[in-house]
Amino acid sequence: MAKVISNSIGAFYQHYPRVATIVTAQAKGKSNAMAVAWHMPISFKPPLYGVAISAKRFTYRLIADSKEFGVNFLPFEAAELVASVGGSKGEEVDKFQQFEIATDKPARTAVPILKAAYAAYECKLVDDREYGDHRLLVGEIVAVHQLEEVFTPEEILDLDKISPTLYLGHEVYVTASKDTLRSLDREVYGKAKGGLSV
Ligand SMILES: Cc1cc2nc3c(=O)[nH]c(=O)nc-3n(C[C@H](O)[C@H](O)[C@H](O)COP(=O)(O)O)c2cc1C
Repeated sequence: MAKVISNSIGAFYQHYPRVATIVTAQAKGKSNAMAVAWHMPISFKPPLYGVAISAKRFTYRLIADSKEFGVNFLPFEAAELVASVGGSKGEEVDKFQQFEIATDKPARTAVPILKAAYAAYECKLVDDREYGDHRLLVGEIVAVHQLEEVFTPEEILDLDKISPTLYLGHEVYVTASKDTLRSLDREVYGKAKGGLSV
């Protein structure tokens, strides 16, 4: 199959899937949650995590105010919750009430941690920078919440226990299948000579 040069550079962002998360924040007694697909780990030491959030989002204002945010990873059963918080505005509705979102207590910040999450980070904002129509918010992870029993001893998500929520774009969600698991040792593959068929 031959690739073509896309007419629209903007189409680059449709190269999903991406893990869909829910970013949470609170400030001055108001809590909020939004769907975020643009997020990434940045550094081990210190542990830094980045989220790309438009300044138009109500959540952004709460984070800019409190200098804290939470990143919540949800099982596929909670995909509808991702769509709910991604389709509503915190300035118009209390999403925690409207969607009956249960929370756990945070450990080192005041951000809401979602009970439905199989893993969640509490982050303290260390940088907030404008990039085009989004802002890159970098947080130091100060606490990690996780359901220990859904990770293997190697800290790999056990797909027998949790199906992660992946976003394909255009309001379409999917999950990962254990049938497709392949363990590819980078040491071995890094030395392979023309043996890889792609
Ligand atoms: C699956 C999904 C992923 C999204 N990813 C992002 C994202 O990475 N960054 C962003 O700014 N908005 C993203 N959005 C849009 C926000 O979640 C949406 O605008 C939300 O209503 C913002 O809520 P708020 O105004 O209460 O903060 C996403 C929406 C969906 C449904």
